[in-house]
Amino acid sequence: MLPLLGTGCDGPLSSLDPASPQASAVADLWWIMLVGSGLVFLLVMTLLTLAFTSARRYLRRPHAIYILGGGLVFPATVLSVLLAYALFTGERLLADPARPAALRVQAMAAQWQWTFRYASGIEMSDRLVLPAGQPVDIAISSQDVIHSFWIPRLGGKIDALPGRIHVMRIISEQVGTYAGACAEFCGLNHAGMYFTVEVVPLAEFETVLRQAMDETRSN
Ligand code: CUA
Repeated sequence: MLPLLGTGCDGPLSSLDPASPQASAVADLWWIMLVGSGLVFLLVMTLLTLAFTSARRYLRRPHAIYILGGGLVFPATVLSVLLAYALFTGERLLADPARPAALRVQAMAAQWQWTFRYASGIEMSDRLVLPAGQPVDIAISSQDVIHSFWIPRLGGKIDALPGRIHVMRIISEQVGTYAGACAEFCGLNHAGMYFTVEVVPLAEFETVLRQAMDETRSN
């Protein structure tokens, strides 16, 4: 059963199979939430079981303890800690504007495709080429409606809003091909708004990028 459950966690769109420090932070948050909610579930089930058995005499306390403690103090504490941790993790996914990465790629969303533009003028649709081990700033925006930029194995989701630019920093550690998707319902073809991410060794980056653009043109 466990190996079977494990195989459900990899695959091109799995955020539980991270390949960058940013995606690892998201995966850690997911596991912490899973373990935390599991513990809370166990606690509630234990109390419930006790209440239905002769052990309920151990639960005899003033009602206020259950109502204030279990209903207010406990959930407020747990949710505040989780919220703080989630906000901290979310902030770490964004690029620090004071220290831009050497490479910046513009990602423009439109119904229903992504256009990636490099500073060198190279432009491609639904295909992103990145150098391995290098920080890259992806400047995300939209031409029409709200979309969401998401490469599950390399980072978190971020909205693509018309008239605004959100900059996400990605450091892909492993060479390989990854899948990206639009993660916000944006019209009829939302489900088909995928893109491919090729992470290549730094030394081959410029060559692969030019090849990729030539192939895109000839298609
Ligand atoms: Cu673009 Cu959904």
